[in-house]
Amino acid sequence: MQKLYVAMVGLPARGKSTLARRIRDGLAAEGIRARLFNNGDVRRARLGAASTDPDFYNPHNTYGRQAREQICRHNMELARQWLAPEGGNGDVAILDATNVSRARRRLMEGTLTDHPLLFVECLNEDQELLRACIRRKTALPEYAGYAEEAALENFQKRISYYENIYEPLRHEKFWLRVDSTANRILAEHPREGCAYYPAIREIVVSVWVHCLYLVRHGQTEFNLQGRIGGDPPLTEHGRAQAAALAEHLRDRPIDWVFTSTRLRSHQTAAPLLAQRPHTHVMAFREFDEIWAGDCEGLRYAEIRQRMPQVASARNADKYGFAYPKGESYAMLRERVQRGLRRALFLAGDTPLVIVGHQAINRVLLALFLRQRQEDIPYIYVPQDQYYHISLTPRRKVFERLPYTTGRSGGERTFAGEE
Ligand code: F6P
Repeated sequence: MQKLYVAMVGLPARGKSTLARRIRDGLAAEGIRARLFNNGDVRRARLGAASTDPDFYNPHNTYGRQAREQICRHNMELARQWLAPEGGNGDVAILDATNVSRARRRLMEGTLTDHPLLFVECLNEDQELLRACIRRKTALPEYAGYAEEAALENFQKRISYYENIYEPLRHEKFWLRVDSTANRILAEHPREGCAYYPAIREIVVSVWVHCLYLVRHGQTEFNLQGRIGGDPPLTEHGRAQAAALAEHLRDRPIDWVFTSTRLRSHQTAAPLLAQRPHTHVMAFREFDEIWAGDCEGLRYAEIRQRMPQVASARNADKYGFAYPKGESYAMLRERVQRGLRRALFLAGDTPLVIVGHQAINRVLLALFLRQRQEDIPYIYVPQDQYYHISLTPRRKVFERLPYTTGRSGGERTFAGEE
């Protein structure tokens, strides 16, 4: 069968390496032997921390330019060997580097002539995610000698050198442009008859979850009273639940924790984060609880008494009903999906926790479960259990696990709530 080179393209911190690993793993799940050739790994092994100096990336620095070109040639040679008819075992070689200039890509096209060469360009226009990605990069051991702000400045400068020479894909024969935060193909220039191309397209657009712990915040006073929305703190029992969650997950690696912007979500995450000074944390508005508009802060019973038309319309179509000046489950879908994609982009292949809310977690679960719409507002989201989800071509896990052993279910169920 025909073999293939894949070359990643994009500025630093655009999700190239995560996507490159996914392409490798996704192909491997189909029995296709793919291997990564990462220029950054070779650079770090050869030059170590010296190559963190941003001037190393200055296009006018002859030493830096030549060193990077040699590394590129070295990896192209290894990739050729991996795909060689004799001695090579591979089907697909993935060259992971910035490859942002047309000159670099011409060099690759001129060298890798024995098999088709597909360029995969990664874009990320989400500035908040970009900043978070850059922060994560500067936490790598090669920046150990820098203070945080200096490391950030340094990395930004490196990016700006690449920006100066960046030319998007256009003249190449075979390419794919991807929004890596949204698993979306933005443009493509396919080539007839490439057997692996459909599989790669499929990998690019699918949502991969290596290890997600989906938690609902602990009990609040509002939960006890059957009040909706608001920004209440956790009760003592809710704080005990948060502590129990941290204890339960104590030995599990967790790289990212995503909360909503609400106090109860932050307070639930706090004990988890206290144990893990290196875990990254971000609050996303996308994970804020359904906005109940005019009904914010009311009890379910009060809504039934004061606004019977609201209660009955909601009962009739809980998925489609939007609170007066508020949201419906149907409206949540888009923002929750955006939040999930952003969280998964940042976490890449590392384990993450999302501390959400009842309606939010239902919508998140529905994104994985392919539930009928009308069932989504009734998915069970208890406060003393969490969902553990892992969905990759090799691993499918979907389980609901208890994390408290003591008194459970601090929340009462109210008529009209279910
Ligand atoms: O009752 C807690 C809560 O998170 C409210 O803030 C929110 O309005 C509600 O759950 C969502 O659940 P339901 O759609 O069943 O009312």
